[in-house]
Amino acid sequence: MKTLIAYDTKYGTTTTIARWLCEAIAGDCVIAKVADVTSLDYDLIVVGAPIYTDEPLSSVTQFLHDHREALSRKNVALFFVYDKLLTTKSETYVEELREYAPPRVLAVGIFGGYFDINVLTEHDRYTMEDFFRRLGKRYDVVDSRNKDEVVRFGTLLRDTIG
Ligand SMILES: Cc1cc2nc3c(=O)[nH]c(=O)nc-3n(C[C@H](O)[C@H](O)[C@H](O)COP(=O)(O)O)c2cc1C
Repeated sequence: MKTLIAYDTKYGTTTTIARWLCEAIAGDCVIAKVADVTSLDYDLIVVGAPIYTDEPLSSVTQFLHDHREALSRKNVALFFVYDKLLTTKSETYVEELREYAPPRVLAVGIFGGYFDINVLTEHDRYTMEDFFRRLGKRYDVVDSRNKDEVVRFGTLLRDTIG
């Protein structure tokens, strides 16, 4: 089975999740940032985005929008990476991602991410600090990644298509 995992990232967490997914799906699995995707000739295409200020990264929603017709003839799954501690909006994120996706999506994976406030750009650090101020909380590093959840999703996809 030929699988493409198309995604984007700002700080690398979604790359890690994409690698874990590929391991679980196994077979002939290729990982590529959406900007580098040159072909959609795959049995399964999994499209993934991290969430920033309540939106999936726009490069990924643009990719879904640009390839909507071609993707509607494919087996497509979606996933997003977000911060479980910072939000209760995961259901909204599913809807937002589906809005851009082709009508028939096999499954949507929801995965906890990671951030370290010390490596963010000045703009992103300001956004986070402002967010924390409003919550009355403060975190330096939040790690909600869970490889088992990612592997379970990958295995489900492999068993569904393969
Ligand atoms: C500036 C900034 C804004 C974020 N906004 C949200 C948000 O609105 N909702 C959420 O659930 N997670 C939010 N996150 C958490 C990210 O989705 C999480 O850190 C993710 O792992 C980032 O993935 P990446 O390293 O692949 O870019 C935010 C993180 C940063 C740094």
